[in-house]
Amino acid sequence: MAVTYGQAHALASKRLSAGSLAHSERVAEEADRLAGLYGVDSSEARLAGILHDLCRDTPHDELVGAAVAAGIPITDVDRAVPYLLHGPVAAAELAEMIPGLSPEVIEAVRSHTYGGTTLSPLAMIVYVADVSEPGRPHESSALLRSRAGSVSLAELFASAYAASMHHLIDNRRLIHPATLSTWNDIVLRERA
Ligand SMILES: [Fe+2]
Ligand SMILES: [Fe+2]
Repeated sequence: MAVTYGQAHALASKRLSAGSLAHSERVAEEADRLAGLYGVDSSEARLAGILHDLCRDTPHDELVGAAVAAGIPITDVDRAVPYLLHGPVAAAELAEMIPGLSPEVIEAVRSHTYGGTTLSPLAMIVYVADVSEPGRPHESSALLRSRAGSVSLAELFASAYAASMHHLIDNRRLIHPATLSTWNDIVLRERA
């Protein structure tokens, strides 16, 4: 049976702090707007948006334990920054908890922390919405929102990903191997 936005919101509200829930609501709204601009199912976009951070507030040791239990590969970067596992762990939990959720929504949740090399339009939309929802303070977020609809989704996603990479480097953060693979894939596709 298909899950409704109200059911997904109720689940998110049980698991998230007020701040994380408000962020997820804004991501759902922005993903809905982007879906309209790029011809993607808006119901799926709203579901993925409200659910993408389901494990964002989960304690780090629990994230590592849940990742091991779900068979998610754990790299040295995941051990150093367990927060990055909140996407893959949420995807694994959702697949178990909500059988009616589409594989595309689950994939969008999974890939929102460190990308993926075969991202669907829905996954790209959720990634962009996550980094550019109106609560994000960076200048690059407002720029992404203003460019939505005037450039291709692939270009918007590439710009969002580039901004994230800049942020990681500027703040001397570790870069997950999957993030690097995603970036290389973006560049190779642009050159193809
Ligand atoms: Fe997240
Ligand atoms: Fe988020």
